[in-house]
Amino acid sequence: MPEFEFLDVDEADAPGDEFAEIELEDTAADEAGRRADREFNEFRERIKNTEQFKLEESVFDEATYGALYDLVQDGHIVAFGGPISTGKEANVYTALGPQDTEVAVKVYRINASEFVDMRGYLDGDPRFRGIGSDKKKVVLAWVRKEYANLERARKAGVRVPRPIAVERNVLVMEYLGTDEDRAKRLSEVDIENPETAFEVAREYMRRLYSAGLVHGDFSEYNVVFHEGQLVVLDLGQAVTVHHPNSREFLERDCENVAAFFGRQGLDVDPDDLLEFAVSEDGEDEGTE
Ligand SMILES: Nc1ncnc2c1ncn2[C@@H]1O[C@H](COP(=O)(O)OP(=O)(O)O)[C@@H](O)[C@H]1O
Ligand SMILES: [Mg+2]
Repeated sequence: MPEFEFLDVDEADAPGDEFAEIELEDTAADEAGRRADREFNEFRERIKNTEQFKLEESVFDEATYGALYDLVQDGHIVAFGGPISTGKEANVYTALGPQDTEVAVKVYRINASEFVDMRGYLDGDPRFRGIGSDKKKVVLAWVRKEYANLERARKAGVRVPRPIAVERNVLVMEYLGTDEDRAKRLSEVDIENPETAFEVAREYMRRLYSAGLVHGDFSEYNVVFHEGQLVVLDLGQAVTVHHPNSREFLERDCENVAAFFGRQGLDVDPDDLLEFAVSEDGEDEGTE
């Protein structure tokens, strides 16, 4: 059966906190935001007047226009599409990428009120030591963390959107879906083969864990169906296994996943799932 095949695991690095340095300097986008040159102004007006963006409650701040401008200049974005999702901290849009590819653009709001929630995931992560409580710094670090986590998950053989670029508070990644519609979330479809879907989901949890990551929001809302595969989204809050609360986050993920598949008629014990997730090799364990 072609559905839900696993990816090859190309050499996953040893698990740990040794991610790419998280750069927190002013970016080119901040500069572009401050700059008032004609091209940038025209760009900003064009985006503001794009039908889909006009309807948005949140107009982007100057530096966000700057980040989008830089992504266009660098060739990651060719044209903007419409919104896919309006979330608590970020909005997701479609856009045209190079060579007629479609990309997804996740734009974080610097002034998101729920940003306080981010602290719990950042405190204790060695990559964010000394970051302080500056809102902008926290959000910018968060976006880079999401990029790094996506890259790490991908290397560990977990199907995630391929990260393409990150600029300030904007993440560009592979778009999942068709020309007509974004890929459906697990919560939005009738799953014909819940056993298989569950086996894939728990193997993804195990691979994330062996790559040193705990998703932290693994649920039917952050997994989509795309081209016969399950794809895991939303890795911004994922923490490394060294995070003091990583166990708690993993337990919560297991409870959510077990409850969801329970509603699909499977008998899943969250403790067994957890045991499987932390096991070295899922082949023979946790399947009773
Ligand atoms: N790369 C993508 N391709 C297609 N749809 C996406 C992509 N990334 C996100 N989405 C859609 O946007 C929604 C919100 O994205 P997500 O990363 O989960 O952000 P949030 O933090 O707002 O939950 C997802 O549930 C999914 O439907
Ligand atoms: Mg989400």
